[in-house]
Amino acid sequence: MDSLAAGLQELISSEERATFPPRVLAEAYHPRNVGRLQNANAQASFKGPCGDTMEFHLRIASGRVKKISFMTDGCGASIATGSMLTRLVGGKSLKAAAALTESRLLEALGGLPKEHRHCAKLAVTTLRMALAGYTDTKKKTKSGRK
Ligand code: FES
Repeated sequence: MDSLAAGLQELISSEERATFPPRVLAEAYHPRNVGRLQNANAQASFKGPCGDTMEFHLRIASGRVKKISFMTDGCGASIATGSMLTRLVGGKSLKAAAALTESRLLEALGGLPKEHRHCAKLAVTTLRMALAGYTDTKKKTKSGRK
């Protein structure tokens, strides 16, 4: 039975290796910046058409993304996209974070199979929602002070 499990695992692994670039597998199996961020001042959670949810938590200060973390209940590719996105956006200016595109994220991962490209779209869409929410909150705070 152990050899059956080992054989099955090897089959899965070899299929994954044939399907996904090494960068995707590395991010999926060893994701960075996972979990809820303490003292986040921007966040968004969004459920994509596939039914999976992506969530980002950001700590923004002095116009920069000081910290960012993610959570997802999605597929391995969504874990990889969430992890890579946090690495691309962490420490960047808000302008640079907002300029991140789906194709830049896919490029950083070495690509995704066609049936998983929407996972990158889910991540970028959720990030933009979080940044838009932060901008709206700042505007409201400023106008409330006048
Ligand atoms: Fe839904 Fe990847 S995020 S299949």
